[in-house]
Amino acid sequence: MLLEQTIDQAVERIQQDSSLRPRVGVILGSGLDAFGDTLENATRISLGSLEGFPISTAPGHRGHLLFGTCAGVPVLVLQGRVHYYEGYSMAEVTMSTRLMSRLGIQTLILTNAAGGIAPSLRPGDIMMLSDHISCFVPSPLRGPNEDSFGPRFPDMTEVYSKRLRTLATEAAASIGLALPEGVYVQLSGPNFETPAEIRMLKALGADAVGMSTVCEAMVARHCGMEVAAFSFITNYAAGLSGGTISVEEVNEMSQVAGEKMVRLLTAMIPSLG
Ligand code: HPA
Repeated sequence: MLLEQTIDQAVERIQQDSSLRPRVGVILGSGLDAFGDTLENATRISLGSLEGFPISTAPGHRGHLLFGTCAGVPVLVLQGRVHYYEGYSMAEVTMSTRLMSRLGIQTLILTNAAGGIAPSLRPGDIMMLSDHISCFVPSPLRGPNEDSFGPRFPDMTEVYSKRLRTLATEAAASIGLALPEGVYVQLSGPNFETPAEIRMLKALGADAVGMSTVCEAMVARHCGMEVAAFSFITNYAAGLSGGTISVEEVNEMSQVAGEKMVRLLTAMIPSLG
């Protein structure tokens, strides 16, 4: 089935299950599921029930779309994004972003866990993306253009909306949370980087490194959505701490992240309603 048909069929199916029509969407990163659990009046749709949609292969990953409200504002939340390192194509990885657009989402908030490269970033911090570096992974827009979604050659001058960044900064200040801005680079994973790669990424201007988000942000901009994105720094990037990086360390920090991200999103979302 063509991408557009798969998505339109999913939209039809989903709209039978929920009468909420949110304009705000949130994609939750690894370990950041907690926000989804705080929604009021949530309706849950399993991604596995949507024909043609990729499902996360990560153990214990949820794979849900949640319709609910946050501080009274209707939101659509994706718990269980799929990653390029799982073997899916970039078109598959970004299908739920396109689905969100077709479901009426105009403002998309992306979250992820990331390694900190900038010397000022410490594990436990949240960094707001001011920009990104996408050129180490294939573009999700490669191939025949999906004209019904957006133009062949989309502009990427301001992927992360200045308006949303101002709102997020104000929301963070209102809860006493420091919210530094920086550049995120997406690599394919699943391996963590080498110290030499981190030195290269630093020289190229990256402040944080991870395995997601950029492809979704590009597809979201292609569809005309306004985007904001936040990285939860789970570890110092390779070679910066003297130790090694383990997925256990990343997952442990993500528990702290979940709560911090809930506070930030809950403070920010009312300004989007
Ligand atoms: N590198 C890539 N992805 C990550 C990291 C990292 O150090 N930490 C969490 N996700």
